[in-house]
Amino acid sequence: MIELTDVAYVRSGVADLDKAVWFATEMVGLELVGPADTGAEQPGQADQADQSDQVGRGQPQTQSRSAQLRVDSRHHCLALVEGGSGVIASAFTVADEDALTAAETELERAGYTVSRGSPTAARERRVRSFIQFDDPFGNRIELVSHQVTVTRPVRLTRPAGITEFGHLCLDATDVREAYRFWSTHFNARVSDWVGDAACLMRIDPVHHKLAVFKGDGPGLCHMNFQVAIIDDVFRNWHFLVDNGVEIQMGPGRHPQSTAIFLYFLGPEGFTYEYSYGVRRIEDDAAWRPRTFDPTEPGSIDMWLGPQRKPSTQPQLRPEVP
Ligand SMILES: [Fe+2]
Repeated sequence: MIELTDVAYVRSGVADLDKAVWFATEMVGLELVGPADTGAEQPGQADQADQSDQVGRGQPQTQSRSAQLRVDSRHHCLALVEGGSGVIASAFTVADEDALTAAETELERAGYTVSRGSPTAARERRVRSFIQFDDPFGNRIELVSHQVTVTRPVRLTRPAGITEFGHLCLDATDVREAYRFWSTHFNARVSDWVGDAACLMRIDPVHHKLAVFKGDGPGLCHMNFQVAIIDDVFRNWHFLVDNGVEIQMGPGRHPQSTAIFLYFLGPEGFTYEYSYGVRRIEDDAAWRPRTFDPTEPGSIDMWLGPQRKPSTQPQLRPEVP
């Protein structure tokens, strides 16, 4: 059993890096950090990405620029990498080097192809070591050890109220099989089901840090940022609308986590979410997962607003040789 201790980061490929960085900072509010691989802090600069995103993918080994963004004590939680458009990887932390090695062994024994990241790639990610593999649906996952913690106060680009990277949501063609994968090999436990449309999983007391939504193929459905107070959700909503950003769903309230949410679309199909007030499951043994029918009014939004699945940024796929 591989124990995931937290979400770590998302790596997303973008064709237009400058536009994606502008949106992430000026619209979402994230703080830009970087360069990616030298250790120096030079806000406002993107830097050269290493080649590990293309490892095993049959893609050209060309240098590309990247940018890293933070919202909490993680060195960064979002890396935007210039190149093909699509999610590159979603990452989780494990406890230490031994846990990472044990995870590598367990996944290989289970038949998954696992690759170790190079020291250069680990340095760029600000982790000591990491491994990569694909889940059964083709989502690229990275497990990392010793992600760097930064104590310098976060300087959000605008006062969006973001307090932390909350969770990430992947797509899979079969949500129940996805849960089988995450609960068999990992410490993920289902908190609630939305029929066969979604499985919300916890790896700690937070109601969900990993969600899987039913989709046509692998991809990142959305990346969530928690905000400090309910007013942030509504202030951000007005800000985004005023700036012509496409709101995908919300403001609304999820009955599962009780979180007040807002989904909105960034460049190149990347969906962001703000939310406030996520449920914590302190008595793990006593919690009984519930099943919500996605066709019932209010099953996604208790406030009965328009329900729509957030759009997914597809997984970058290897080119066919
Ligand atoms: Fe979410």
